Amino acid sequence: MIQEKDDSKLKDIVAVCKRRGFVFPGSEIYGGLSNSFDYGPYGAEILQNLRKLWWEYFVIRREDVVGLDSSILLHPKVWEASGHVSNFSDPLIDCKVCKVRIRVDHFLEEKKGAEFVQGKSLSELQKVLEEENYSCPNCGAKGSFTEARNFNLMFKTQQGANEGGTIDIYLRPETAQGIFINFKNVYTTCRKKIPFGIAQIGKSFRNEIMARQFVFRTREFEQMEMEYFCEPGTQKEWFKHWVDYCMMFLTEVVGLKKESLRIREHQKQELSFYSEATSDIEFLFPFGWGELWGIASRTDYDLTQHEKFSGEDLKYVDQANNKKYIPYVVEPALGLNRLFLAVISDAYVEEKLPDGEMRTVLRFSPKTAPVKIGVFPLMKKDELVPKSKEVFHLLRNHWNTEYDDSGAIGKRYRRQDELGTPFCVTIDYDTLKDNTVTVRDRDSMLQERVYIDQLKTYFIEKI
Ligand code: GAP
Repeated sequence: MIQEKDDSKLKDIVAVCKRRGFVFPGSEIYGGLSNSFDYGPYGAEILQNLRKLWWEYFVIRREDVVGLDSSILLHPKVWEASGHVSNFSDPLIDCKVCKVRIRVDHFLEEKKGAEFVQGKSLSELQKVLEEENYSCPNCGAKGSFTEARNFNLMFKTQQGANEGGTIDIYLRPETAQGIFINFKNVYTTCRKKIPFGIAQIGKSFRNEIMARQFVFRTREFEQMEMEYFCEPGTQKEWFKHWVDYCMMFLTEVVGLKKESLRIREHQKQELSFYSEATSDIEFLFPFGWGELWGIASRTDYDLTQHEKFSGEDLKYVDQANNKKYIPYVVEPALGLNRLFLAVISDAYVEEKLPDGEMRTVLRFSPKTAPVKIGVFPLMKKDELVPKSKEVFHLLRNHWNTEYDDSGAIGKRYRRQDELGTPFCVTIDYDTLKDNTVTVRDRDSMLQERVYIDQLKTYFIEKI
């Protein structure tokens, strides 16, 4: 996975996220909780923008997709049926000296490359570890590893107040199963005909062995998943359709650069236990290419399993053609937090200005930017402030707009550059004479005068 790395860029992104209120370390006043993050006001705004764009593009605009909001806690049998209890695990070793936990496949990928590791069984990985006799990457001890074993990634908890009356349940590791178990509810109540999809956005939890790389891999994260149910035999066509549709969403709607994205088809030996074909849309993160969006052809595996374990008939009845079958499923599964990291990595630029000063600027597209417009009086003077507030309230009714009158104007521009605000509006003494303001473009830094009564039309076009 690791290629063209720029670890210093990741450090800069983490720093700007903290400095400007995008992402804070989780539980910070208690010394932090490893690998947990809280999204500050600007980060929360970006997440909302991304959720909204995804929902509009995958649900509202599509006649053939409906939404769902299922529970995080599901009946424990769901995870037996889906195969997660027996198969959802990663290979793990511990160092007996320093007690660090290591994910074997990632460790060997760094030593020998991803292709060497793909498709190797647990015992094959163990054999490589023994042959190579690697030292612990944390403490340097040799021969200190435990035997490799599979570690289930699901978080287990108990439901029920009284001891003895409790049952073991899991926090969901994917939102997908909530969709499968509601397939019949949705298709009967919404009178949907195949092909159709069910989409949902929600939190998932995985007890990752090596959670790392900022918000790329965390134990609590949010997914935006869609299960598209189609007639057996048509899944290849739909698979291609959804790969193209997802790619278009990333480039045309979210505004990621085409050169930051690529499609990687999974080799047979790396396919998940439920998949007959998978393509990942990968993004060039500061630490290298990594999976952003997995699109999988899940066959009829999940519905067949739930039919078997629940005893419910989950077949679809096609009355027009007198057919009854378990639909095949194509699933585009996207991580919201990874999309956030991709958006901020793609937008982050440090540039030298003509006067030699450096500026950090986040070039978000207007659709993803947390603040769309900054409004400032040129100086904090009595005559300029009321007019500036009037302009601010006018724009605030339509877009997320920020008012700022503290400090030098140059510093206020820099702050908005770091927040990725695409436009700044400045009120000066000419405004009081002719009702025009200066609009500054974040990227070109060019300024133009616009009449206040034309600002709304101007920004509708731009944003
Ligand atoms: N229902 C299929 C499924 O969950 P996945 O490839 O395991 O497939 C889908 O996950 C997407 O969820 C990934 O492409 C990634 O964007 C995101 N994701 C998975 N594990 C994650 C983690 N630990 N932290 C952040 N995002 C994660």
